[in-house]
Amino acid sequence: MNFVLLGAPGAGKGTQAKKMVREYGIAHISTGDILRAAVADKTPLGAKAKTYMDAGDLVPDQLVIDLVKERLDKPDAKKGFILDGFPRTTAQAVALDTELSELGLEIDGALSINVPNEQIVARLSSRRLCQECGYIGSEADLTCPKCGGKMYQRDDDQPEAIHNRLEVYDKQTAPLIDYYKGKNLLYDVDGNRPVDQVLNDIKEIVSELQA
Ligand code: AP5
Repeated sequence: MNFVLLGAPGAGKGTQAKKMVREYGIAHISTGDILRAAVADKTPLGAKAKTYMDAGDLVPDQLVIDLVKERLDKPDAKKGFILDGFPRTTAQAVALDTELSELGLEIDGALSINVPNEQIVARLSSRRLCQECGYIGSEADLTCPKCGGKMYQRDDDQPEAIHNRLEVYDKQTAPLIDYYKGKNLLYDVDGNRPVDQVLNDIKEIVSELQA
């Protein structure tokens, strides 16, 4: 099964994607994680992406499209995948459709995780991540509860960048809801509930798709 996870910054895409990977054994393709790793490794891609990311702006389409094409070519993506944070513009969605059709693949569902903006701002302001294993937690986690690693705050989880990311989402990414609705692939998920309840809703949608 191949999924796209849609949702504003902080809606819980990464949290649910990690759980879906454990549940279904499919690949997690997070463009944000790939770009952050490129920034940390100081690669040419990372150098190009950093300024956009820190400000909460989108990295230019072609850079992201190229990295997703490369990632979809890896063997683990053949078992199925969850695209987390991609596509984020109509140009990216069209490029994805073209690439998948060349690979003889298609999207089974676009899961749109919905959370009110006030909740999103609260979540992102308090989010902390593990430097070692990528665990997503909150400021209550002084060290990583999974591996004991050091927790850090993302540069784009500062108030100004959060505000910009929400604006960018409304202008550039929200139109994808209609894009996938038009293809009969959109499934709404109420993300303003405890993590495991959100996962249960996603599992029900996946069961329906598999039936
Ligand atoms: P990216 O990393 O994709 O960030 P994002 O979309 O802004 O989403 P986040 O990772 O911030 O949030 P999330 O929805 O994954 O929420 P999470 O599960 O962590 O992108 C970062 C940047 O990279 C972009 O701004 C852009 O510059 C660039 N980029 C990436 N992809 C790109 C693309 N395709 N094109 C161009 N540029 C691109 O949860 C958030 C918090 O909430 C956590 O603390 C978590 O513990 C908590 N939480 C989660 N679920 C719940 C729940 N149900 N109840 C309570 N708390 C919860």
